[in-house]
Amino acid sequence: MKKLITIVVMALVAATQAQAADVTWTKDIKPLFDKQCLACHGATTPEHDEFGKDKKGYTDKGIGMRMDTYSHLITYVGWPFTGALMRRLDDGTFRTDQKPGNMYQYLGGTEAERQANLGIFKNWVGNWNQKRWKDISKEELNSIKAKY
Ligand code: HEC
Repeated sequence: MKKLITIVVMALVAATQAQAADVTWTKDIKPLFDKQCLACHGATTPEHDEFGKDKKGYTDKGIGMRMDTYSHLITYVGWPFTGALMRRLDDGTFRTDQKPGNMYQYLGGTEAERQANLGIFKNWVGNWNQKRWKDISKEELNSIKAKY
């Protein structure tokens, strides 16, 4: 019986991992990003450092930094803007003040939609780590999936 339970649990774990591993930018993230984020982070928006030269000016106009390609978005996951995507999209569940990141609101029109879309982003990243470059370990970086 114990053996059977172990096998079932292992199969479930494998299935969940397979599902998570299946999330790719091309198939899942790009359509979601285009729907929820493109309006402010599209191809005509400035590169991160260009944005930085006039943060307030761009923000006041509702213009963000460019993130519409895999190559752009990945810099907000891994390096150099390590964890920025995770910090901004998180729902705040694990924070003491429960405050969501300021981009969480754009994940959907209802709480159910926001939660579902957050789940897709989480599965894509693989390791929903909110640490910055100076704090993240090699192991933590290694467990980021973010597949193309
Ligand atoms: C209405 C416009 C708007 C929408 C829609 C929007 N953003 Fe933003 N976003 C901004 C602006 C403006 C900034 C820069 C100001 C700030 O840091 O809050 C920003 C900042 C960010 C940052 C921080 C980058 C950094 O350098 O730290 C991330 C990550 C981000 N957005 C991701 C997203 C994602 C993912 C979505 C879609 C779910 C999204 N945003 C939707 C306007 C928007």
